[in-house]
Amino acid sequence: MKTENTVWHEQHITKAQRADLKQQKPCLLWYTGLSGSGKSTVANAVDALLFKLGYHSYLLDGDNVRHGLNGDLDFTDQARVENIRRISEVSKLFLDAGLIVSTAFISPFAQDRASARAKLAEGEFIEVFIDTPIDICEQRDPKGLYKKARAGEIKDFTGIDSSYDVPQSPEIHVHTAEKSIAECAEQIVKHLAEQGFISAASLS
Ligand code: ADX
Repeated sequence: MKTENTVWHEQHITKAQRADLKQQKPCLLWYTGLSGSGKSTVANAVDALLFKLGYHSYLLDGDNVRHGLNGDLDFTDQARVENIRRISEVSKLFLDAGLIVSTAFISPFAQDRASARAKLAEGEFIEVFIDTPIDICEQRDPKGLYKKARAGEIKDFTGIDSSYDVPQSPEIHVHTAEKSIAECAEQIVKHLAEQGFISAASLS
């Protein structure tokens, strides 16, 4: 740390008060999966559903965050670690603001996902594994990146020449190849209601 001469200021308004005002419990939906697996699509659908139900949520999306805050980072292992560290810190601030936060990053390394989990209170981190086989991601190839990676035009591409640690016990396991986007979103929102982050009554 290069910040030893700074002091943490307690704020007057607490996280619990902010959450109460919004009638929700803050949590972090941490989407992980290969490029093209559907993380952003499903996370957007969940975000829209929560908004419709009257909840306050915010989505931090990998491609978007890499245009700004993390625009200085490439796809080496070291840069990916820093990408996830910054996102987990930003997410923690957003949780403190009382929000239900979603992050959609490949987040390929189990150790980094564990560090993100460890920054939050027990139960707040919800790992959502968007489990789409690589051959389907490659068939979809929405940004044409697999094609480029296979042609050797992009290096360190996740699933091709950069590794992905499959989540061992995600809180939510989503199989996008077998379900519609709306069904995937409902599965996740239902989990939030079952765990008391949002009111079960709001779903009926
Ligand atoms: S992470 O590994 O650091 O978590 P992140 O989710 O932020 O990755 O960014 C992944 C997105 O960047 C992919 O969906 C893809 O659009 C793009 N991308 C560009 N180069 C690569 C690469 N070498 N590996 C993976 N994704 C890449």
